[in-house]
Amino acid sequence: MNLFILLLLFLSLTSALSKPNFVIILTDDQDLLLDSLKPLQKIEKYLINNGVIFLNAFTSSPICCPSRSSFLTGNFAHNTNTFNNSLNGGCYSNEWIENHELRTFPAILNNHGYRTFYAGKYLNQYYSNLIPQGYDQFYGLHGNSKYFNYTLNENGNIIKYGDNQEDYYTNVIKSQILNFLSNQTKDEPFIAIVSTPSCHAPFTPEEKFNNSLSNFTAPRTSNFNVGSRGLDKHWLMTMKPKELSQETIAKIDEFYRMRLESLLSVDDMVEEIIEKLSEQNILDETFIIFTSDNGYHLGNWAMPWDKRLPYETDIKIPLIIRGPNVPVKKVVQSPVALIDLAPTILNWAEINYKSENFDGQSFDKLINEKFFNENFINERQILIEHWGEGNVETFNPECPWKKSQRLSECQIEAECKCQDSWNNTYVCVRHLSKDINFLYCTFHDREHFNEAYDLGEDEFQLNNVAYDILPSIQARYQIIVENLRNCLGEDCKIVKNV
Ligand SMILES: *[C@@H]1O[C@H](CO)[C@@H](O)[C@H](O)[C@H]1NC(C)=O
Ligand SMILES: *[C@@H]1O[C@H](CO)[C@@H](O)[C@H](O)[C@H]1NC(C)=O
Ligand SMILES: *[C@@H]1O[C@H](CO)[C@@H](O)[C@H](O)[C@H]1NC(C)=O
Ligand SMILES: *[C@@H]1O[C@H](CO)[C@@H](O)[C@H](O)[C@H]1NC(C)=O
Ligand SMILES: *[C@@H]1O[C@H](CO)[C@@H](O)[C@H](O)[C@H]1NC(C)=O
Ligand SMILES: *[C@@H]1O[C@H](CO)[C@@H](O)[C@H](O)[C@H]1NC(C)=O
Repeated sequence: MNLFILLLLFLSLTSALSKPNFVIILTDDQDLLLDSLKPLQKIEKYLINNGVIFLNAFTSSPICCPSRSSFLTGNFAHNTNTFNNSLNGGCYSNEWIENHELRTFPAILNNHGYRTFYAGKYLNQYYSNLIPQGYDQFYGLHGNSKYFNYTLNENGNIIKYGDNQEDYYTNVIKSQILNFLSNQTKDEPFIAIVSTPSCHAPFTPEEKFNNSLSNFTAPRTSNFNVGSRGLDKHWLMTMKPKELSQETIAKIDEFYRMRLESLLSVDDMVEEIIEKLSEQNILDETFIIFTSDNGYHLGNWAMPWDKRLPYETDIKIPLIIRGPNVPVKKVVQSPVALIDLAPTILNWAEINYKSENFDGQSFDKLINEKFFNENFINERQILIEHWGEGNVETFNPECPWKKSQRLSECQIEAECKCQDSWNNTYVCVRHLSKDINFLYCTFHDREHFNEAYDLGEDEFQLNNVAYDILPSIQARYQIIVENLRNCLGEDCKIVKNV
């Protein structure tokens, strides 16, 4: 063997050894803005105090399946063709299986020698005995988040769970990942994703945490139970009743408390993951990423409880990262998107990829301690897109609305104030820089309604300025959203002057 080959061998060995691991904890429907992180002391201790927390992380589609498809591919929902949570809306469709699954970042990592593990909710319409492509170990939930009485595909075996306390789903996921981590060493890099039911409806806490946060109530922000009318907001927001009753507010407080209690089990899981990584002697070379698919509102603008709105409560997500070269106990102001994670992770793994394959962009430099600057705010124009759900099948006969109105998420418990409608369809641009903090939206409804908020002055989005800003600025933003809604790759990253 000559020296050159030895050198190559040495280089390839050392580079293989230096690949970092990834653990991603993806919660369901967890807000950043309504203080859902507050009671999670272990996450604070192990992640926030040992890494960075982003104050401006956004999902580009505030609803589960489109957001999860985007998270996995690094592309906007209009490029994964996942428009809603239904099969015919692209959720776990044949197109997904044929064209998108293999280009998700876990599949790419797998192709580059990473061991890959997934446990928890995958995509809402996943009811399959197929194991998604790219995973060495897969423990996927059939369908949408549940806490008990659920079915899993465990590496090809379909297993049903009941409703004993030991079946509490977050804890089952926890034992699956701890099992996987027990086998990991410095020899081979891995990625492990856990996707928890917490804190999605029905918000069931683990028995030991039931009523443990009984002094917590939904934050009474200045938009709490403030209804909209006329030109304030788009049609859905103006549905009756304008203000919610005290009974509904009590329900909101109960759901708020249960959401947090359900997250306490995730808090425990984080601690045990850290302990396990430490035991395996691989904590220092592991990135731990904590985030959610979308945010949530509870009583804000007098809307009961859901996501699907283009406002901060719903589009802002928790994002906390600790790992090699990530600064400790720092806050990141710069805007990032959930679709940025795919290219960021590939950069950390030193895997070459074509930047134009992703609509998101890597933020690895932004949180590298060598370059980190707490006061720096990058400029971004992030597309937010949603196709309002609502067709004749989403009709609820308990409510006084008609099938032909194509409303959805109308619950008698929420006074039949519906949470979505065919015409809650929008494209928005969330524009942030050192001096700009703006949202511009255009709705695909009969009025071509527009909304815009200057968040620097109106944090709680009560004052729609779309019809007050200069027509030239309005026209610029309109062009920006029209470009972004069809963008692919590099076009999605261009920042245009307004
Ligand atoms: C689980 O399913 C059983 C049998 O259908 C039912 O009796 C029980 O109430 C369910 N438990 C929960 C928590 O939904
Ligand atoms: C751990 O690794 C061994 C040997 O490769 C394998 O047989 C076993 O199934 C693995 N267990 C888990 C939980 O990954
Ligand atoms: C939680 O407590 C409530 C009473 O506040 C009770 O109705 C419910 O059954 C309890 N749930 C569990 C899982 O223990
Ligand atoms: C609720 O009580 C706990 C324990 O006394 C305390 O740590 C927490 O700050 C309280 N939370 C609120 C929202 O008052
Ligand atoms: C989901 O999207 C598909 C395709 O656009 C549409 O046909 C279907 O009605 C949508 N589902 C709902 C509930 O709106
Ligand atoms: C939105 O849809 C609702 C229900 O179908 C309808 O009553 C309302 O007029 C629509 N508004 C606009 C602006 O499209």
